[in-house]
Amino acid sequence: MLDQAFNSAGFQYIPPGFYMNEQIAPTVEDVKKQYDTELVRDGDSLRKRAYMKLYWERASGDIRLADSQLYFQTHASNHLDGGKPRQFKVMNKTIIDVPVIQQILSKNMALVEQYEPLKTEETLTIGLHFIRYLVDERKASCSSPPWLHRDDEPLVFIHLIYLADTAIGGDNLIASGKDMQVSHVIRLENELETLVLNRNVYHAVTPLGSRKNIATRDILLFTVEPAHTQLA
Ligand SMILES: [Fe+2]
Repeated sequence: MLDQAFNSAGFQYIPPGFYMNEQIAPTVEDVKKQYDTELVRDGDSLRKRAYMKLYWERASGDIRLADSQLYFQTHASNHLDGGKPRQFKVMNKTIIDVPVIQQILSKNMALVEQYEPLKTEETLTIGLHFIRYLVDERKASCSSPPWLHRDDEPLVFIHLIYLADTAIGGDNLIASGKDMQVSHVIRLENELETLVLNRNVYHAVTPLGSRKNIATRDILLFTVEPAHTQLA
């Protein structure tokens, strides 16, 4: 799936059926419950989040918690918040025992294992960013950074966990790496709809608004990078 065509296009849509089955589906609710209780407000934004850093070993296929749970992003990739290590709330580690999270980990890493640009890397860092955008009709909940950018990580999976019917906006924009013209607008609406990006395209998410009362958009950002690129 993450083949040469993906490499040059820079993005790929993955339908929910790639991850979902009868056993998995009900456990998405368990993830949502953890979003309700575990996430904390991200500064003064209208977002809540928690983070977890894992290591994956190619030789054994083992996945383990990283000792340091600090998150580093360069200034180049995020003018707003980059350039300094950030300590997010560390996600309750029971989340990785939830079957749908297990499934996402195993399906994604099976793709990553075969992904040509990372094939020489023996250890990869997996970043799990659990993010909830939360807004009422008087405000807008923005992503950070707010407009077109490229992430530091060579691969980023954006998994939709939940989108309220009352939500407006929250659309993914894809722009050419050459001229930064927006070429695609992709709306993830259904549970486990997924978009994968590499660094050949720029991307952004439009601000989330609400038609009525509180609207939420829950996503899991699943980032993959060589282990040496995150500072200890
Ligand atoms: Fe991004």
